[in-house]
Formats: sequence, structure tokens, C-alpha cells
Amino acid sequence: MKRRRFLGIVLAVLGSTAAVSFAYPLLRFLAPPARDNKARNISIKKSDIRLGEAKEIVFNNKPVIVINRYEKGFVAFSKVCTHLGCLVVYDKGLRKLVCPCHAGTFDLEGNVLSGPPPRPLPVLPLKVEGDLVIIG
Ligand code: FES
Repeated sequence: MKRRRFLGIVLAVLGSTAAVSFAYPLLRFLAPPARDNKARNISIKKSDIRLGEAKEIVFNNKPVIVINRYEKGFVAFSKVCTHLGCLVVYDKGLRKLVCPCHAGTFDLEGNVLSGPPPRPLPVLPLKVEGDLVIIG
């Protein structure tokens, strides 16, 4: 093998290796995830949320609040305010959800009580089975 041909092969191998090492991470970054990471549901022990209390969770990368209401049992809402997207907080004393950004308030059915929110808070599907509260 001539020296010129040998150097050509070595350069081709090194060039290909360099191209793959740059292209692969770029393609992995640009390609969508291979599978859907959404959970179908999430379970919480009933005993984790005492009567009148709330628990904040993340479900499918979205903030959710689960409330154990005095008369009506468990309910789960998106914490994202329907006005401009701030996160609502549960006011245990007032038994309301309050948005800290523009003072929007929601009742424990998710309905708008006051302030600028144009729509109720989205309610998530929820069922109680045995000792579990299943959201989703
Ligand atoms: S973002 Fe909630 S009231 Fe404006």
C-alpha cells in the first residue's frame, strides 16, 4: 500500500469518527423522545391528606392540588390560574383557592368567585378506591 493511500484511509476514518461524534448528540437533541412519558394516573394515600387539608403534587409535569373537602370529599385541580397562569394556593381558613398574582379566587368546585380569571380551574379525574385517591 502506498503511503499516500494509507494516509487517505486514516484521514477518512478520523473524519468519519469526528462527524459521527458531532452529529449523534445533535440528532439526539433534535429528535422527539422515543416514548410518551405521561403517567396514566397517580395514587396518594387518603391518610396523606387530612380533612380540610390539601396536598400539592406534580402530575405529568403539571402542578396539581388535591384537596380533602369537608363535605364533598377529595377533588383535584390544576394549580394553573386560568387568567395568566400563576399558581393558585389553597387558603385553608377561607376554604378557597387564591391566585397571588391578581387576587383571583376560586371555590372548592373550581368556580371563579372573584377577580379576573375568565374560566374555572380545570378539575382532574379522581376516584377513591380503598385507602387510595387515584388522580388521572
Ligand atoms: S394570574 Fe391568576 S388572577 Fe391573574
